[in-house]
Amino acid sequence: MLSSNFQSLGLVALAGLARAATVSYNFDITWVWAAPDGYGRPVVGVNNQWPCPTIEANVGDTLVVTLTNKLGNQTTGIHWHGINQVSTEEMDGPSGVNQCSVAPDSTITYQFVVDVAGTYWYHSHNMGQYPDGLRGPMIVRDPNDPNKSKYDEEVIISVTDWYHNESLVLVRNMLQPSNTEFKPPIPVGLLVNEGQGSHINFEAGKNYRIRLINFSALANALIHFGSHTMHVIMNDASMIKEQSADMIRIAAAQRYDFIIQAGKNENSNFPFLISLDINRDMHNPNLGPLQWPFNYTGYLVMDSSKALDAIDIVQKWNPVDDSHFKAYDGAGPYENYDKLIKLDFQFCLDENNYPRACFNNVTYISQKVPTLYTAVTTGDDNTNPEIYGEVNPFVVDDGDVVQIVVNNLDAAAHPFHLHGHHFQVLARADSQAGSWSGKDTGYASTPPKRDTVTVNGGSHAVLRFKADNPGVWLFHCHIEWHVEMGLTATIIEGPSKLKGFSIPDDFINACKVQNIPYQGNAAGNTQNYTDTTGFITVPPTTYDGSMYIASSGSGSKVKREAEEKKVKFGMLGVGKFE
Ligand SMILES: *[C@@H]1O[C@H](CO)[C@@H](O)[C@H](O)[C@H]1NC(C)=O
Ligand SMILES: *[C@@H]1O[C@H](CO)[C@@H](O)[C@H](O)[C@H]1NC(C)=O
Ligand SMILES: *[C@@H]1O[C@H](CO)[C@@H](O)[C@H](O)[C@H]1NC(C)=O
Ligand SMILES: *[C@@H]1O[C@H](CO)[C@@H](O)[C@H](O)[C@H]1NC(C)=O
Ligand SMILES: *[C@@H]1O[C@H](CO)[C@@H](O)[C@H](O)[C@H]1NC(C)=O
Ligand SMILES: *[C@@H]1O[C@H](CO)[C@@H](O)[C@H](O)[C@H]1NC(C)=O
Ligand SMILES: *[C@@H]1O[C@H](CO)[C@@H](O)[C@H](O)[C@H]1NC(C)=O
Repeated sequence: MLSSNFQSLGLVALAGLARAATVSYNFDITWVWAAPDGYGRPVVGVNNQWPCPTIEANVGDTLVVTLTNKLGNQTTGIHWHGINQVSTEEMDGPSGVNQCSVAPDSTITYQFVVDVAGTYWYHSHNMGQYPDGLRGPMIVRDPNDPNKSKYDEEVIISVTDWYHNESLVLVRNMLQPSNTEFKPPIPVGLLVNEGQGSHINFEAGKNYRIRLINFSALANALIHFGSHTMHVIMNDASMIKEQSADMIRIAAAQRYDFIIQAGKNENSNFPFLISLDINRDMHNPNLGPLQWPFNYTGYLVMDSSKALDAIDIVQKWNPVDDSHFKAYDGAGPYENYDKLIKLDFQFCLDENNYPRACFNNVTYISQKVPTLYTAVTTGDDNTNPEIYGEVNPFVVDDGDVVQIVVNNLDAAAHPFHLHGHHFQVLARADSQAGSWSGKDTGYASTPPKRDTVTVNGGSHAVLRFKADNPGVWLFHCHIEWHVEMGLTATIIEGPSKLKGFSIPDDFINACKVQNIPYQGNAAGNTQNYTDTTGFITVPPTTYDGSMYIASSGSGSKVKREAEEKKVKFGMLGVGKFE
């Protein structure tokens, strides 16, 4: 008796300590011809294939991805969305921030530990490139998942908006003085699992864990599983107390994990509906002409000999309010805060009357030296926000509790993403509730932790995180088109711990081959860090996206230098894109 008990305990312990493995992938980034909706176009794929592969690992594993750029005419780089990169801030991926972009024929190796189980995705974080296709699911499993006994099978569903023109064309078209209404590119359709459809084989009596990922560049999606309730267990790879939901709204970059149970006596095929919402704020029907133009009906297929013809009708979309989810660990909000970062977002015009997006009337302008490389090479001066240039820098000290308040002065809802942390969502007010009152009251008692939160139109959200992960982390709108308009802030976290941090040689070489400086202040000045000569202070009037111009070395950066002038943000506009 004793010995057999002992043995089974031993087995459990062994499973718990399952040895952390190294999981390696080779990613050659290549152009691929694809027609996911019947319309053929070039897309950015991996190893001559598209859709891009799913990365799978167990929690605690070291993931090694060797990336070689074989695009010929574009630079690239990958962000591992939702992985907080504890102690590996140089692996986060955004070009011009945590690394230099990777030129054609260059190779870099990303290496980091996947320390928290959940549903993630990876995508290009290089100048508007991911809507052209470079994105894929990334699943980190926990062999001891407390919910493991609750499901029999796993299903990944990705949803995304889709475009027929390449991003470069779309963004060039958007960034014109004639675009006085700040219109983003409008998608031509909805892809589910990159167009391959998503009928789910369903067996009576079994439970399914659905991992829902939104790859969108713009649009939100709503999902409804007919008469089947969704039992939500995770948002953005962070566990929540199980919450049942009839409808879920998923914004760009968000993820939900939920369980669907097939009844023991079920024997028919059940339709489910995914609707793409390209309305600016679903709570405001007056903004309606573009509401629900694209629907996808999939089926939970119990019996493939029976017809797939029923449809799932939703009279009115009324998704569960995810800001009321509760953190699984029951933790309350961090008490008080040491640093307040208040960000008023609205569309704005630059001095050349180009449409931009601003936090506190300042638009993000990419500098010459990646911001992390400035932080690690400028010694004690790295606490001075001035040396980073116009990247909307906010310096927070190691150990600070930071409160971010986003006041969304635009009429549309926008999803905001923080790198390096899962923040607590203390409050996410209703559509048109106005800006934050300045009073810290009425907050959630067990706030959900997420990496992406939707802030409703004309409203606000209050977020907190603890600065326990030194690095340079972006906070930005995850509507890719708005990133290209400059809707980004940069958190310089724990600069005292970043001094002298070493950057791997292959990452430095990625800069060298393009003549991009990798030390000193924003302009690469290594003698006098407060000397702002060479800072880029006016957004360029030409847009080259990820385009690589071999003859001029660093391509668009060279051109941008020629356009430096003094900035003056005066006229502010009000966004509109119906
Ligand atoms: C997942 O596991 C947690 C912890 O055991 C439990 O509270 C929760 O109810 C489980 N969720 C489901 C869907 O079984
Ligand atoms: C692509 O862009 C061109 C030029 O702006 C435009 O005429 C065309 O309608 C666009 N095509 C699609 C499919 O969006
Ligand atoms: C994905 O996110 C975008 C951007 O917020 C949103 O417009 C779209 O509806 C989302 N898709 C789904 C299926 O929720
Ligand atoms: C998509 O589905 C929604 C909800 O059922 C409906 O209101 C809308 O009209 C549908 N759109 C189209 C284009 O059929
Ligand atoms: C932004 O500019 C507007 C108009 O000039 C001004 O009213 C507002 O106070 C400014 N906001 C911030 C945060 O500076
Ligand atoms: C560094 O540059 C700043 C700005 O141009 C200037 O004010 C300062 O005197 C310079 N410091 C040194 C030591 O040259
Ligand atoms: C690069 O090559 C691809 C594939 O041939 C092409 O579709 C694209 O337009 C080219 N140019 C740029 C700037 O990306």
